[in-house]
Amino acid sequence: MCGIVGLVGQANAAEHVLEGLKRLEYRGYDSAGIATLDHGRIHLHRKRGKLQGLVDLLREQPLPGSIAIGHTRWATHGRPSDENAHPHRVDDIVLVHNGIIENYLELRSELTALGRKFESETDTEIIAHLIATTPAKSLVERVRATLLRVQGAYAIAVLSPSEPDTIVVAKNASPLVLGISETLGIVASDIPALLPYTRTVKILEEGELAVIRPGSIVITKLDGAPVERAARVIDWSPVMAEKGGHKHFMHKEVFEQPRSVVDTLRGRLSARGDDVELPDTVVDMVARASRVMITACGTSYHAGLVGRLAIEELARLSCEVELASELRYRHPLMGPETLTLAVSQSGETADTLAALKEARHSQSPVLSIVNVLDSSIARDSNQVLYTHAGPEIGVASTKAFITQVIAFYLLAIGAGRRRGLSEARARELVRGLRELPLTIEEILHQEPRIIEIAASLKAARSALYLGRGYGYPVALEGALKLKEISYIHAEGYAAGEMKHGPIALIEPSVPVVVIATQGPLYDKVIGNVQEVRAREGKVIAVVTQGDRRIREMADHVIEVPAVDPIFTPIVATVPLQLLAYHVADQRGTDIDQPRNLAKSVTVE
Ligand code: F6R
Repeated sequence: MCGIVGLVGQANAAEHVLEGLKRLEYRGYDSAGIATLDHGRIHLHRKRGKLQGLVDLLREQPLPGSIAIGHTRWATHGRPSDENAHPHRVDDIVLVHNGIIENYLELRSELTALGRKFESETDTEIIAHLIATTPAKSLVERVRATLLRVQGAYAIAVLSPSEPDTIVVAKNASPLVLGISETLGIVASDIPALLPYTRTVKILEEGELAVIRPGSIVITKLDGAPVERAARVIDWSPVMAEKGGHKHFMHKEVFEQPRSVVDTLRGRLSARGDDVELPDTVVDMVARASRVMITACGTSYHAGLVGRLAIEELARLSCEVELASELRYRHPLMGPETLTLAVSQSGETADTLAALKEARHSQSPVLSIVNVLDSSIARDSNQVLYTHAGPEIGVASTKAFITQVIAFYLLAIGAGRRRGLSEARARELVRGLRELPLTIEEILHQEPRIIEIAASLKAARSALYLGRGYGYPVALEGALKLKEISYIHAEGYAAGEMKHGPIALIEPSVPVVVIATQGPLYDKVIGNVQEVRAREGKVIAVVTQGDRRIREMADHVIEVPAVDPIFTPIVATVPLQLLAYHVADQRGTDIDQPRNLAKSVTVE
């Protein structure tokens, strides 16, 4: 997804902005560009493809100046190309933009009637034309007047030689963070780009503009009203956002999971460690609801599927899970009695945000499970349960999923205690939760074995993942991980559905990964494994340590420690993350930035 970085007040500003853009690469992009101002002139480079193209261009032709804006673009309007890459220059204006302008066709015909010519297929260029043709005294006034005419989502950063030490930024539904520094002016769409310069930030809110100069930031509303915004200190160190010795961010993040689980649990268990202690405001929302509607996308949706099972089982509450991209266009019967539970790592996913707004519109209270602090979904919810997973840089979600699932367990136990869950069962579950970090460590030690199994999978063209009960969301998540990073086609299925269709696919060249850990549905899963074997399918099974029955039927087994069956999604997903990772690594794919994918999907 698109990234923005702007900096003023330092020589070779383009180099600094480039470093910032590198820190946003994880968001996914298809082209990049930087503009600077120097001696009353705009200097500009734009390049399709990875940042290396821009790096080479800057080495050959450096961009002079102590003020720069830069952008990584993920194509929405217009294909990835040099011309469509940002920044866009029109007359004395140069700008970068994240988001989508909804009334772009209308504005484009208006500008065409005025004789304006366009050089790109983007909606962004329209904003540049509008600012360029707006007569006003200062740059901020020109931007303000333009934005009053623009509908849609945007975060923009604008430069003009008319004000050579000023960056004007504005936002509506796309994130922008302002860095606080005594000498610099710095802004970015995401925190990691700011960390080398400052850890003190101000978050720009909807419909606000900021004028950034070296050592100074002035925030106003679109109508010009002044805004006071408290600064926040970000406790992520720059190293936390780096790979820390791992080959890929994804690998690092898989190995961070024991720590992330500790962070999610921190401060949320009683001092004696035998009960859940969440804020009453959060638990009440769940405990008092008549029903729960969980909504999310992708991996977060899979966490939601686990959440439903846990909330139904422990809190005995009727619970549905719906993809946010579907929920937002349905006419669900929701009102104040239905709790909407939105789940998102980034907190910026456009579909989830839209579903949440629909829910609020129907008077449904919204609780969200979010990783990124102060993100749009967090800010738009009545209550937030942060997962505290830390920055997730790899595009494929790993620690975010595990911590979302942990957050659901906390909610289900907390609400369950108010709805009849026994103290003894809650104590047993909390003990299980506290043991999970060590259990995950133990699973991670099996990496060498998983690397061997990955070698047997890497040539496959297609794979099936099967699970039942708590194993079903794991099957979906395991298949998603494999397909998104290794590009092997993979389907996750409820094992009981196999004979209703997918069994037709079984043959020796289609490996079948089965979640077959101990639990109430173990015997049923054994039946499914036998069906696969009978058709000469190759079976890779995730089993509980010491399992003998499946060992005899499966080609490969991955053993995981015995846990309460409710925690199956934790212990069975971790090895499947590693399996997908090593298959992808052996196939040599771009693991942290798989093709066509973006970390934070801020457009529909
Ligand atoms: C898959 C993945 C995506 C995200 C989805 C939702 O590995 O990362 O499927 O889970 O785009 O993103 P968030 O959780 O940021 O709303």
